[in-house]
Amino acid sequence: MRLKFLFFFLTIHLIEADINPENNACSSIESYHIAQMSKKCFYNPDVLSDVPTMTARHGYEAKTFTVTTSDGYILTIFRIISNKTEPVNGPVLVQHGILGSSSSWVAIGNRSLAFYLVDRGYDVWLGNTRGSYYSNQHVNLSVENPEYWDFDVDTIASIDIPTQLKFVFNNTGEKITYIGHSMGTSVIFMYVASNWDADNYVKEIIALAPIAYLNDIPIFEFVRPLGLFLVKILDFVEITGLFYHEDAIHGLLTQICKNTAPELCSLLISLTSGKTVQFPPDDLLLYYSYWPGGISIYILQQYLQIIQSKQFQKFDYGPKRNAKLYGSQTPPVYNLSEIKLPTHLFYGENDIFYRKENIERLYNEIGSSDKTAFSVGTDEEKPFDHIDFLYSENLIQFLYERMFDNL
Ligand SMILES: *[C@@H]1O[C@H](CO)[C@@H](O)[C@H](O)[C@H]1NC(C)=O
Ligand SMILES: *[C@@H]1O[C@H](CO)[C@@H](O)[C@H](O)[C@H]1NC(C)=O
Ligand SMILES: *[C@@H]1O[C@H](CO)[C@@H](O)[C@H](O)[C@H]1NC(C)=O
Ligand SMILES: *[C@@H]1O[C@H](CO)[C@@H](O)[C@H](O)[C@H]1NC(C)=O
Ligand SMILES: *[C@@H]1O[C@H](CO)[C@@H](O)[C@H](O)[C@H]1NC(C)=O
Repeated sequence: MRLKFLFFFLTIHLIEADINPENNACSSIESYHIAQMSKKCFYNPDVLSDVPTMTARHGYEAKTFTVTTSDGYILTIFRIISNKTEPVNGPVLVQHGILGSSSSWVAIGNRSLAFYLVDRGYDVWLGNTRGSYYSNQHVNLSVENPEYWDFDVDTIASIDIPTQLKFVFNNTGEKITYIGHSMGTSVIFMYVASNWDADNYVKEIIALAPIAYLNDIPIFEFVRPLGLFLVKILDFVEITGLFYHEDAIHGLLTQICKNTAPELCSLLISLTSGKTVQFPPDDLLLYYSYWPGGISIYILQQYLQIIQSKQFQKFDYGPKRNAKLYGSQTPPVYNLSEIKLPTHLFYGENDIFYRKENIERLYNEIGSSDKTAFSVGTDEEKPFDHIDFLYSENLIQFLYERMFDNL
C-alpha cells in the first residue's frame, strides 16, 4: 500500500518536474545532485560557452581583434557593441585577473559588466593577458613550450597592458577608462607608476578588489612557504605553465560539480575567494566553465614574494641576478605616488585578499589628488568577497551603481 503511494507520488513528481538531462544551473547547491529532475534546475546555454557566442545570445556583438606584443605574444581583444546604443561615453578597457579571462564580463546575463556598460553608452573593450584562454598564441612558441610561460606580473604590466591600451587608443582616438579586477589592478598600478606617458592613454583607473600589498594576512602567511617550495619544484622540472588545457579542465570540472561534488565546488570558491555569501548557486557551473585559466608559475612566485617582502615590488631573482638586472641586490619597489591619474578603489571586506592596513597603505601612497576608496556591500551588510566583483547577485545595486557615481 505504502509502496504504491510512493510510486504514485514519484510518478506525479517526475511528470511535473519535466526531466531534462541538460539542466546545468540550479538555485540551490544540493539540487545539482538531481539536476535533471529538480524543479529548481534549468538549462543555461552560457555554461561552457565562449565570449562571442554569449555576447550574441544576449543581443550584443563581440568584434574580435588581435594584437601582437613586441615579444611575440598574440593577444585577443574583444569590442562589445550593441545596435541599440551609440558609444557616446568614451572607451573602457576591462581587464580580468589571475586565472581568469574576459568571459567573466559577459557570462552572467544582464548582470554582466560589459553589457551594463554598453547599455550606458560606453565603448567597451575586453582585454586578455598572455597565457589566458583567448591569448594563448605566440608567433614562435607553443604553450607546450616552457619558454612560452617565462613571464611574471611585471611583464604583463610593462608589455600587455600598454599594448592593449595603445591598440584601443589607436582605434578610438580617446583616452581610456581602465577597469581592472584583482591582478588586473596590480598591472595598471605598476604600468602607470613606472611610465610618464601612461596618462596619454589612460583617463582614469577603476580598481575592483585591488591587489598591491598582501602582507600579514594569516592564511597567506600559512601557505607562503609551501607555495614558494612548490614553485621551485615546478620550475626545476620545467612545468612553468599551469591550467592551460582549459577546455579539458573546464569540461571535467563542470561534470564533477554537477553530478558528484557540488558542495566541494562551492567550498573551493570560498577557499579561494573569501566568505561567500552572495554567490548565486545558479552560476556554479558557469564559474567552472571559465576558471581556472592558464597561468605562469612566475606570476604566483612574484605574488608570494610580495607577500613575504611586504613591498609592491618587481620580481626577485635573488641578489646576484637582481644586481645585474636592476643595479641593486633587492628588487625595486613600484612608487605608487607616481600614480597621478584619478583612481577609484572598490574593495570588499569579505575578500580573502583584504586587510584593512594594506588597503589604507595603497590608498595613502597613490599620488593622485583625485582618489577614492569604497567598501562594497557594507551598507547592506553584505561585504563583497574576491569573486563577488564578478558574480555577486547584488552586483548592479552594490557595485555598478556606485561605480558610475564616480564617472
Ligand atoms: C621568432 O622566430 C624568428 C626566427 O627564428 C626570430 O627571428 C624572431 O626573433 C622570433 N620572434 C620572437 C618574438 O621571438
Ligand atoms: C540588432 O541586432 C540584433 C542581433 O544582432 C538583430 O537581430 C536586430 O535585427 C538588430 N536590430 C537593428 C535595428 O538593426
Ligand atoms: C535580468 O534577467 C532576469 C532573468 O532573465 C530578469 O528576471 C530580471 O528582471 C532582469 N533584470 C534586469 C535589471 O533587467
Ligand atoms: C598604434 O598606432 C601607431 C601609429 O600608427 C603604431 O605605430 C602602433 O604600432 C600602433 N599600436 C598598436 C598597439 O596598435
Ligand atoms: C616616488 O615618487 C615621488 C614623486 O611622485 C618622489 O617624490 C619620490 O621621491 C619617489 N620615491 C622614490 C623612493 O623614488
